[in-house]
Amino acid sequence: MSERQAQVYRLVEELVTRRTGVDIAGHLAGRVQGHVDEQVRRLGLEGPDDYLGRLESGDEGSLPLLDDLLASVLVHETFFYRFQSQLVALEASIIPELVGSGTRNVRIWSAGCSQGPEPYTLAMLAARSTAGTDIGFNVLATDMCGAFLGEAKKGIYRPDKLGELPADLRSRYLCPGGEGTFEVRGGLRERVRFKRHNLLDPPPERNMHVVSCRNVLMYLGRDGRRRAIENLVSALSDDGFLLVGHSESLRDVPDLLGVDRRFALGIYRRGGAASPPAPVGPRRAPQEPPPPVRAEPPATERPGKTGTAHAVSLIRLEGEYDADLRPEKLASLKESLGEAIDKGGDVVLEADGATLLDMSTAKLVARAARLVESEGRRLTVRTGKESVLRWAARHGLQVESGPSTKEVRQA
Ligand SMILES: C[S@@+](CC[C@H](N)C(=O)[O-])C[C@H]1O[C@@H](n2cnc3c(N)ncnc32)[C@H](O)[C@@H]1O
Repeated sequence: MSERQAQVYRLVEELVTRRTGVDIAGHLAGRVQGHVDEQVRRLGLEGPDDYLGRLESGDEGSLPLLDDLLASVLVHETFFYRFQSQLVALEASIIPELVGSGTRNVRIWSAGCSQGPEPYTLAMLAARSTAGTDIGFNVLATDMCGAFLGEAKKGIYRPDKLGELPADLRSRYLCPGGEGTFEVRGGLRERVRFKRHNLLDPPPERNMHVVSCRNVLMYLGRDGRRRAIENLVSALSDDGFLLVGHSESLRDVPDLLGVDRRFALGIYRRGGAASPPAPVGPRRAPQEPPPPVRAEPPATERPGKTGTAHAVSLIRLEGEYDADLRPEKLASLKESLGEAIDKGGDVVLEADGATLLDMSTAKLVARAARLVESEGRRLTVRTGKESVLRWAARHGLQVESGPSTKEVRQA
């Protein structure tokens, strides 16, 4: 590789970071080089310099180029009903509380929505919790990448994107989409509006009651993250809620908004943890205070030490877990482990489907195991595969052998 070529790859990386705030240096950088080379071949360009020139030109042809670039380098892993304990809190407590305080139309923004499962999930929960009332809701869904938005608007998904979407939501809001896919029903689709928006820019709309920006901030560099958080907060209504992902605590920006301590689930509130405002005569004022948040799983899923059924979270490992080559797989595993830790009970990693498990993955699992074990629970790796057994033994992870089960979610 010539010096100039290396410099062009770097300039393209810098352009991505400048435009999105995403910290691309390091493990995502390899993707840039592969993408640039492929585009040069596909478009019959003279070389990387020619590509960079077109990308930076700002003319009509540069937007599709930027879109293709973002679609291939940004992590866009997403699925329905992600981080379910937070969603339970949203449906059981936040939406009733908003309605109880007089909100007639619940406004929700899914920022960094990728291919759409998140805004559709939020719409399902809002639809269910306002069913039979005259309370309205709508969901604004934004992402910086037009290619992801195009997929989101289609609303058609493979079964592996459904995550742990409960059966009743699945049958009420999805229908068969052909060739084994699922399609979001028209009625729900109408409640979700998609728009291209960069989180580094001021919000496209304001006065949002709920802003969900999950699994996006973790990819932004320090400055981008701060700017994005300021923009998200400025979109909130006076007592609006901000939801972030598992590993996205806003502890470093305490001046911007208060944590709602009732939840401890990555839920923040513009007005801080104040008690809910008094109801102002909604047409359907709840007779009782809003139900308590079920931050913990329902009784049937609680860990054995509560005396009820013993919950086991099953996480299936499939494919390559390599921090350098497949950072999104580790991010997804981290999230699944976080959800399992929140949920209570034992955790089993079904690992026969893993074809590569690196040291970073072992460290991640070992950290989760320590957390789980500190509460008297167990985290085990279930496998009959020699290579996985060796990996687990090398890193001191507990192993069990046993039949594989289908009730698992893929990380
Ligand atoms: C890992 S996905 C998260 C999707 C969804 N929120 C979820 O939790 O399932 C991250 C998304 O953030 C988007 N993104 C990254 N930087 C962005 C920016 N500066 N502005 C808007 N979207 C951005 C990416 O395009 C990608 O679709």
